Amino acid sequence: MTLSRGMLQRAPTIGEKRVKMAVRIVLGTQWGDEGKGKIVDILTEDSDIVVRYQGGANAGHTVVIDNEKFILHLVPTGILHPKKICILGNGVVVDLEQLFSELQELKERGIETDQRVLISDSAHLVMPYHKTIERLDEKQKGKNRIGTTCKGIGPAYADKIGRIGIRMMDLLDEELFNKKLEQNFKAKEVWFKMISKKEVFSLKKKSISVLKYKNKIKPLLIDASIYLNEAIKKRKNILLESAQGTLLDVDFGTYPYVTSSHPTAGGACIGSGIGPTRIDEVIGVTKAYTTRVGDGPFPTELNDTFGEILRKKGNEFGATTGRPRRCGWLDLVILKHSVRVNALDKLAITKLDVLDQIEPILVCVGYKYKNKKIEGFPKALNILWNVEPIYKEFSGWKNKTCGLTNYKDLPDKTKRYLEFIEKSLDVPIFLISTGFKREEAIFV
Ligand code: GDP
Ligand code: IMO
Ligand code: MG
Repeated sequence: MTLSRGMLQRAPTIGEKRVKMAVRIVLGTQWGDEGKGKIVDILTEDSDIVVRYQGGANAGHTVVIDNEKFILHLVPTGILHPKKICILGNGVVVDLEQLFSELQELKERGIETDQRVLISDSAHLVMPYHKTIERLDEKQKGKNRIGTTCKGIGPAYADKIGRIGIRMMDLLDEELFNKKLEQNFKAKEVWFKMISKKEVFSLKKKSISVLKYKNKIKPLLIDASIYLNEAIKKRKNILLESAQGTLLDVDFGTYPYVTSSHPTAGGACIGSGIGPTRIDEVIGVTKAYTTRVGDGPFPTELNDTFGEILRKKGNEFGATTGRPRRCGWLDLVILKHSVRVNALDKLAITKLDVLDQIEPILVCVGYKYKNKKIEGFPKALNILWNVEPIYKEFSGWKNKTCGLTNYKDLPDKTKRYLEFIEKSLDVPIFLISTGFKREEAIFV
């Protein structure tokens, strides 16, 4: 195996304990749901601060601790480790109702959240009308719908970019908040014509009532960029937690079948106010096969019994919407794209155990279009919809890897599969998840 940048600069891991301070990004390399939550939870042990840098309540990050399952949507996954500070960066779009109900639920389950959650004063709000507009938009698109989570994400980011968004800090200025609300209702008149006057009235009432969070939110607001850069100076360890995945990035994903933010490494800087030269390491989380939820092209999708087996064994149902996830083989074409756009230093492989007993196991090593092999990942969707994957076949290991914690205990055939991924991508695998539980992992 060739030495890559990541191998030369190995940052602290759980096994080695802290050897230097680090600012690390943990992101998804596929279409989301790679198991980022579990990996972030493991790496939180070695961190002081966990920051969500984009997305909103469209995320669903699962962690299983002592048979108890937690699904985090807006709150950073770091919350499950006592005393760690959790920050929602300026790049996140925040639905306050969702945030406070999530915090309340965590409290009821024995997780101390007081004084641990801080929010960038520049983060934008997801308002009730964003969800209404998204529902209408998806309906209007008909069969061309994106298949969004309907959490108001797209419309909230559209307002941000359109420079009419409402920011956290605006909540502290009632007059300004109301002025912005008026402006927004005017700008969205065309949507509101599609619903009854009664609905518009109640939407407005609900939107005005977001002000009720003013006093609750006030002590949580910070300039997150200043806070984080001060923390870096104090040699604190910071984990930047992505939601979604690289192929859902609005620039680098399968546009328009993407989310409206930047889950990629660049997004971590923009969404937190930490400059690129302060980032020590970029960690990509990769599922041992591929899934996608929502519409859009998916070259290695399996619409047969293999797909059903993966869905069943991997329990591939959306953590946010409950929708069945589309399942398929591992795709090295999209992963190479992810390695490049994120400059990945190392990989965490998840759900390896789901492939136990699968025979054979295929890996996509390239695409053919109109019977000719093509180079790289095609950006044009009319090509991507119609590519034919070229597969390399591996014979399955048919042994149980579930729960293993030692690399040497993995079957040889499993090691071959992993080494092939590592070699093809030229990125070292440093962590392998072998089950949904917190302790089911191998540090390589
Ligand atoms: P995220 O959005 O990237 O955090 O991923 P999700 O939580 O949406 O989906 C990952 C699912 O796989 C969750 O149900 C996890 O509990 C589960 N999971 C994570 N790692 C493993 C693993 O190694 N093996 C198995 N069987 N399940 C895993
Ligand atoms: P985590 O963080 C998987 C998908 C939706 C849809 C597209 C746009 O759990 O990995 P949006 O609501 O964001 O406008 O929907 O993106 N999507 C996800 N898919 N995991 C996620 O988050 C996702 N968040 C959004 O299904 O296809
Ligand atoms: Mg998820």
